[in-house]
Amino acid sequence: MEKFIKRGAGSQLIYRNGSAGTIEIYDIKVNRPDWRKGIGSDMIRELIETENPHCLYCFMRKDNVDAHGFYLANGFKEVAVIENFYEEDCKDAIMLTR
Ligand SMILES: CC(C)(COP(=O)(O)OP(=O)(O)OC[C@H]1O[C@@H](n2cnc3c(N)ncnc32)[C@H](O)[C@@H]1OP(=O)(O)O)[C@@H](O)C(=O)NCCC(=O)NCCS
Repeated sequence: MEKFIKRGAGSQLIYRNGSAGTIEIYDIKVNRPDWRKGIGSDMIRELIETENPHCLYCFMRKDNVDAHGFYLANGFKEVAVIENFYEEDCKDAIMLTR
């Protein structure tokens, strides 16, 4: 089941609880005019405080420089590159955990 953390119009984090205290961040999006104001990081903080996960993980498009900078700044580490992860356009994914 998907769960949501929201911040105003257009900003939300969608996640799913997995096995053994793991959580997949399925999507995170901040309203464009509000980028770089700490809102994305704040939603990650709320997720950790609410769920106290053993491990967070996510997949992001390898060419998404915004998401890459964001996740690394929030303590995530790259664990794998998965080729052709996004079947619709054959793009690669980076898997990150924290
Ligand atoms: C990724 C995203 C959620 C970040 O949200 P945000 O609220 O702007 O992030 P924060 O303000 O909390 O940023 C915290 C830190 O992350 C890093 N960071 C954030 N955006 C970045 C960017 N575009 N490029 C490089 N580093 C970035 C910075 O270190 C930043 O700290 P600083 O602003 O003091 O330098 C936002 O850019 C977004 O909605 N992007 C489009 C959707 C998307 O690609 N989602 C990811 C799907 S996998």
